[in-house]
Amino acid sequence: MKSSPWWKEATIYQIYPRSFFDSNGDGEGDLQGITSKLHYVQELGVDAIWLSPFYTSPNKDGGYDVADPRDVDPRFGNLDDVKKLFEVAHSLGLKVLVDVVPNHFSDQHVWFQQALKAGRGSAERARFHFYDANDDGTPPNNWISLFGGPSWTQVEDGQYYLHLFDSSQPDLNWENPEVISDYEVTLRFWLDLGVDGFRIDVAHGLVKENLLTNHPNPQGISDALRLDVSMDPEIRYALLPTVPYFDRQGVHEIYRKWRKLFDSYKDREIMAVAEAWVHPPVNATRYVRSDELHQVFNFDLLDAPFKADFLYSVVTRSIELMDSVGALPTWALSNHDSPRVASRIGEVQARALALFVMALPGSCYVFAGQELGLPDGEIPDSSRQDPIYFRTKGAQKGRDGARVPLPWSGESAPFGFTTGKPWLPLTDKWRDLTVEKQSADPKSTLNLYRSALKLRADHLITQGSITWLESPEHGAKSSSLLAVRRGNVSIYMNLSDSPVEVEITGKLLIMSAGTVDGRDGKLTIPAVSTIWVHH
Ligand code: NOJ
Repeated sequence: MKSSPWWKEATIYQIYPRSFFDSNGDGEGDLQGITSKLHYVQELGVDAIWLSPFYTSPNKDGGYDVADPRDVDPRFGNLDDVKKLFEVAHSLGLKVLVDVVPNHFSDQHVWFQQALKAGRGSAERARFHFYDANDDGTPPNNWISLFGGPSWTQVEDGQYYLHLFDSSQPDLNWENPEVISDYEVTLRFWLDLGVDGFRIDVAHGLVKENLLTNHPNPQGISDALRLDVSMDPEIRYALLPTVPYFDRQGVHEIYRKWRKLFDSYKDREIMAVAEAWVHPPVNATRYVRSDELHQVFNFDLLDAPFKADFLYSVVTRSIELMDSVGALPTWALSNHDSPRVASRIGEVQARALALFVMALPGSCYVFAGQELGLPDGEIPDSSRQDPIYFRTKGAQKGRDGARVPLPWSGESAPFGFTTGKPWLPLTDKWRDLTVEKQSADPKSTLNLYRSALKLRADHLITQGSITWLESPEHGAKSSSLLAVRRGNVSIYMNLSDSPVEVEITGKLLIMSAGTVDGRDGKLTIPAVSTIWVHH
């Protein structure tokens, strides 16, 4: 069964175009490559694809540095290729979301080039955040870029411009009506080409406060915002609400306007999902109020330890918070910005967690390659491309590991991804992880995802919320056991390294690992495994 509207409990498959499939042998994935593999995506059993940016871009930040948001970068193809992709996806019953990047443009965008030429005080500069230097020549404030280094860069005439990310990504000034109306043109452009919705990059960042004021702890907030910088949670949670450029009230006005625009497309149920890293977690609910966006990413599982008490609190909190505004949560175990889940918590653990999460109410996001159980790629420093690596002078390795191309077939790298040299190296160790190998192996991670998504559609979608059976707060048999009931299915996840016996009758639908022993109304759940039992 499908949820209604379609996105409410949809499984959405994130495609990073550069890494999916290369149709022309230049070593980089492209739009025709994606189109040629859409039947694979459909067979996986997902409802929609989300395409990371494929727009014209100098590609300093993997395409999140957009030079023309209404055109296609030649490395990926052209507008006809996009139209074809949308058409084939729709004919296969897949909805299509595209990324939009409204917080910043690339410095190669015509507006920024005009701003450089037009000089201080001009209307062209007012589309960005240009300010004079302090009297001593220093930048207007002490903010630090999320990619490391100062978040201001000086131009020839001495003014500075703000960039929360790379210096090639100048932030747009969302108080300028021209910016607002230009972005509406962009949204309409893609809606008119047939997209079903958007993933909004840095959705919480568009409005800035105190642009000319120093923050008392700029390095602290910069670190607190990074998942890969360890920090005492109390310190982190105290710092996050003080970030002057994220999650300001003004962003909601923008999304209220966007919602009206989306709703004016009466032929489709348009949806938009916000990439909004906010704290405290309740702030996320503001993005999905009934007159704003439809979903907001829940990033809690991207860095959650594989521990029952932690996962229990993430799941209960996410469901309860979203319920308070009549929305459902979203779940994501991996994306192009974070280490792959199989590397982070272990391969078997990642299978167990995925099967548990797929049973929960809400929408699941699957990052391409996650269904193959891919670990992070092994990347020599000489091949790294992420600006984080360069801006931190190598102190942080960056996100390339999660972006290594997919292995499709054959016995050696690059496993059919390209006939050329892949833009990031694949390793021969992935021999048993190809789509080809895994399709033929009933016990593979790929077949686990395929079966689970089918069973999810058959038994769980639209079945309302969950009731906890076993958790640290529900008298669990073991501190490493979590279990919920949803509709006619009970879902057990044994996180420990030893089997656990539970009293339960019913038909075993699926399990993530091992073999389940059952007799006399009891089942033994293998170590590190999730099972679904139908009653
Ligand atoms: C979030 C995107 O997911 C990430 O890849 C990008 O670097 C930043 N936003 C800046 O656009």
